[in-house]
Parts: sequence; structure tokens; C-alpha cells
Amino acid sequence: MRTFEAQGMTFEETLTPEMIQKEVARVAGEINRDFAGKEPLFICVLNGAFIFAADLFRKITLHADITFVRLKSYTGMGASGEVREIVNLYEDIRGRDVIVIEDIVDTGNSMHYFKKELFEAGAESVEVCSFLFKPEALQREDARPKYVGFEIPKQFILGYGLDLDEFERNRDAVYTLKTEN
Ligand code: IMP
Ligand code: MG
Repeated sequence: MRTFEAQGMTFEETLTPEMIQKEVARVAGEINRDFAGKEPLFICVLNGAFIFAADLFRKITLHADITFVRLKSYTGMGASGEVREIVNLYEDIRGRDVIVIEDIVDTGNSMHYFKKELFEAGAESVEVCSFLFKPEALQREDARPKYVGFEIPKQFILGYGLDLDEFERNRDAVYTLKTEN
């Protein structure tokens, strides 16, 4: 098992590139099946979801377009407050079936606010496709993702797009913070 040190902490590989690609293909298959005959708009949430979105979107066989937004929580770690967009959505989404591509749904705060905004902008339907999901951390039932790569425990993870203070996104696997025991 690969490990590395950062900021005085040890991280160990918990999802290998092979495991990741297998689940990305499965999720893409579910979306291709569920949206057959439709033209969904994918919205990738920056920064964390860009690698997942790149892998997933290449396995989508539908006639589909993709765009990008950047969301930022007002607070830092822990309980997040309201979420704001710092790269805005310019597309007209009235009547569109939207699939939001996220890196991870934790408390669900980000997706709660973003889904609300998408419906206010006239989306016909909104589903969340998240690479990772921490079910134990969920505080907003309406943010529960329909499409999930992996359900994981309430531990800090990084890699495959996810960051530790903006770094480590380029690791090809997911690493979990090793807790002392
Ligand atoms: P939520 O709004 O609480 O669901 O948090 C979603 C956002 O928090 C994600 O888009 C990530 O940027 C960040 N996040 C949550 N958990 C982790 C983690 O374990 N590692 C890195 N980022 C995380
Ligand atoms: Mg993020």
C-alpha cells in the first residue's frame, strides 16, 4: 500500500486507480441508461471534481454538453454556512435535465444550496453525481447524491482531484488520513 507524509500527517492509499476506473465506468453506465433519449447538461463543480468529470464524461454516450461552476463555502472546515458561486453559470438551463458532477458530498450543504439555485434558474430536473459520499456526515437529505462512485467513512481524504489546502489534487489514487492508534 502506498503512503506519503504531508503537513506532518500520514496518508495511505485506500482507493487505487483500478478501483476508481471500475466505479467511474459503472456510474457512467447508470447515467447512460437512466438518461437514454435525453440530452442532459453536466455541470462540473470546480475545483475538486475536474478529474472525475474528465474521466466520467468520456464514458458518457449520450448527446450531452458540459459546463463548469466554482462553489465556495463561507466557512472553512467543519459545519459550512451558505455557499456562493465564484465562477458563475452562464448557460440558460431553463427546461434542462441537469447532472451535477461533484467530488464529494460531505454535509450536503454545497449541493443543498446549488440545487436550489438550479431549480430557481428553471432546471427541469437536477441529479447529483458524486465521486465520493460520506453518508454519516450528511445533514441535508435533499443533497443525497443519486449516483455515487464510493461511499466512504467520515475521514479526511485527498487525491484524484481532492485537495489538502489546494495541493495533492494530482495524485492518481485516493488517500486517507491515517489516524494514530
Ligand atoms: P459539503 O458542502 O459539506 O457537502 O462539502 C462538500 C465540499 O467539502 C467538497 O466539495 C470538498 O471540497 C470538501 N470536502 C469535504 N470532505 C472532504 C475531504 O475529506 N477531503 C477534501 N475535501 C473535502
Ligand atoms: Mg470542493
